Amino acid sequence: MATETQQHAIDTMLLEERRYEAAPDFARQANAQPEIYERDWQEFWETEGRERVTWFEPFTELYEWNPPYAKWYLGGKLNVCFNCVDRHVEAGRGGQVAYYWEGEPEGERREIRFADLQRDVVRFANALKGLGVRKGTPVAIYMGMVPELPVAMLACTRLGAPHTVVFGGFSAESLADRMNDMECEVLITQDEGWRAGKTVPLKRNADEAVANASTVKKVVTLRRTGNDVPFDESRDVWWHEAVDGQSADAESCPCEPMDSEDLLYLLYTSGTTAKPKGIIHTTAGYLVGVAATHHYIFDVKPDSVYWCAADVGWVTGHSYIVYGPLCNGTTGVLYEGVPNYPNPERWWEIIERYKVDILYTAPTAIRSHMKWGPEHAQKHDLSSLRLLGSVGEPINPEAWVWYREHIGGDRTPVVDTWWQTETGMILITPLPGITTLKPGSATKPFPGVDAAVYSENGQTVGPGGGGYLVLKRPWPAMLRGIYKDDERYRETYWSKYEDVYFAGDGARVDEDGDFWLLGRVDDVMNVSGHRISTIEIESALVDHKKVAEAAVCGRKDERTGQAIVAYVTLKGGDEGSIDMLEELRNHVGTKIGPIAKPANIVFTPELPKTRSGKIMRRLLRDVAENRALGDTTTLADPTVVEEIKERAATEAPEE
Ligand code: WT7
Repeated sequence: MATETQQHAIDTMLLEERRYEAAPDFARQANAQPEIYERDWQEFWETEGRERVTWFEPFTELYEWNPPYAKWYLGGKLNVCFNCVDRHVEAGRGGQVAYYWEGEPEGERREIRFADLQRDVVRFANALKGLGVRKGTPVAIYMGMVPELPVAMLACTRLGAPHTVVFGGFSAESLADRMNDMECEVLITQDEGWRAGKTVPLKRNADEAVANASTVKKVVTLRRTGNDVPFDESRDVWWHEAVDGQSADAESCPCEPMDSEDLLYLLYTSGTTAKPKGIIHTTAGYLVGVAATHHYIFDVKPDSVYWCAADVGWVTGHSYIVYGPLCNGTTGVLYEGVPNYPNPERWWEIIERYKVDILYTAPTAIRSHMKWGPEHAQKHDLSSLRLLGSVGEPINPEAWVWYREHIGGDRTPVVDTWWQTETGMILITPLPGITTLKPGSATKPFPGVDAAVYSENGQTVGPGGGGYLVLKRPWPAMLRGIYKDDERYRETYWSKYEDVYFAGDGARVDEDGDFWLLGRVDDVMNVSGHRISTIEIESALVDHKKVAEAAVCGRKDERTGQAIVAYVTLKGGDEGSIDMLEELRNHVGTKIGPIAKPANIVFTPELPKTRSGKIMRRLLRDVAENRALGDTTTLADPTVVEEIKERAATEAPEE
């Protein structure tokens, strides 16, 4: 034991002792029952494979593992669109709502039933066929959160055409890079999107991108805002004209039988640094993985109204707005805009209107709602909610408890789900009704998943020590590689430990076997020989009643190696003061210990975040060390970091 703890790679100090047992009435009706953890992992995935999806031809072998490459459900034939749409209509559930769509401009609403979805997908797939799209044709999709976005994805999968969805907040250059890498032949976009009451020039960006992506031959444009946009008759087609006169009969465009391992999509991930990687996801393992996890983790029922408030442009949207929920025949909510348009009540209005029972969102959104105050939620009836979920970053215990109390009526389980674009599906998570919840902990590996925390030299770190999160056996939805870059695939995920997947995250496991995520290992600080994760100090800061958000990083220090710098946003627009600074330093000192006290604190109205809401600590390090800023192109709002630079320069430094 002693030798094990000596080997830990990250020190952990913050202890969170609140516990939430599963309520007996929830436990009784839960999709996941305790025996699920006792099942043999191969039997588990075998059964899920047979029962969760419909096969045109059954698989003959569960998996094959030639490290670092896996294959799952070998020999099977199936189609994702058939599983997500047609089979529900054939089973008589065509009248059930697939999506309640709510546009950002108030009053714009649509109900799309499974039969409507089938009609729209078939017509659009026929239109794509007319443009030359066949099995294997790479297609790019650059749209906002409109119903036609899932329609476009499903139409591709119906034809067997792999897609890459590029988040509508990305620039023309990012779009061009991705289309060039995948050699896309068709691009699907829209005239403009809506965001915070303003239009986003999607078609203009698309044109700029296509000018630098010579493989793209056709651009299909959906009319959304109706404003004038440039249109090139020789290359561009309007969505409504392309589908005009196309048959809506499913037989007119049968679902292409795909091999289990055929490419389903690429999704590019840049993380917080470097050139984007084209993450490869294939057909069967991905579909089984996302459908199974969606069923058990969110405890989805036939009459559920499930809302994952992410963007379809991220993996969360691919797996848990489109493919997982539709495969399970679930009714979902799709909302086009930002959470505070026209005011911070918008989300709670939506939950009340559709009687949403499951809400899945990110810590950054929860902290925004905390900052705006609980009064907005209080004005609405949120009693339909049964379960809350979180994903994307470690969730600070204070935000977790706020979410449960103010949104979940101190009644709902909160599932903190750890996964990545690369993992395709959730891998570490509570199962509601079984797991005793701990605010800030993603708790246990999902059944069938083997996760561990390793030291620098590859030994398992015992309770109390922090280290590197690894996955010790393949799982169905795992990435099949990085597109056209085998070397980078091996180097990034498989070079630190032999035949074990290195996630790049720090973690610790406690006495109960529960996992606590500690953030990206690149963000770990070294203060006087202690390896400290940023998340624990941030959580201690957010624990203070005046703090809305906090980000922490290390800067070089002659005496201690690194010194801790904190960037803090106070509630209610408070500007901060020297007294406040001292109060916060002491607060961290009491919560964690003197070593964790930030050397200085910069008060700032906003923190620099990626477009998916992750804090970019790398840029905060540049500011703290007075360096020129590194790559800022993945920032959601590039002006934020300039503002922080000014504040950091005027702030009185410590001691
Ligand atoms: C990284 C993956 C997973 C879909 C959205 C993000 C961080 C994600 C958690 C969590 C702590 C988390 C990790 C991970 N992360 N979920 N519940 N607790 N950290 O996908 O953009 O590929 O990011 O997000 O650092 O490696 P992504």
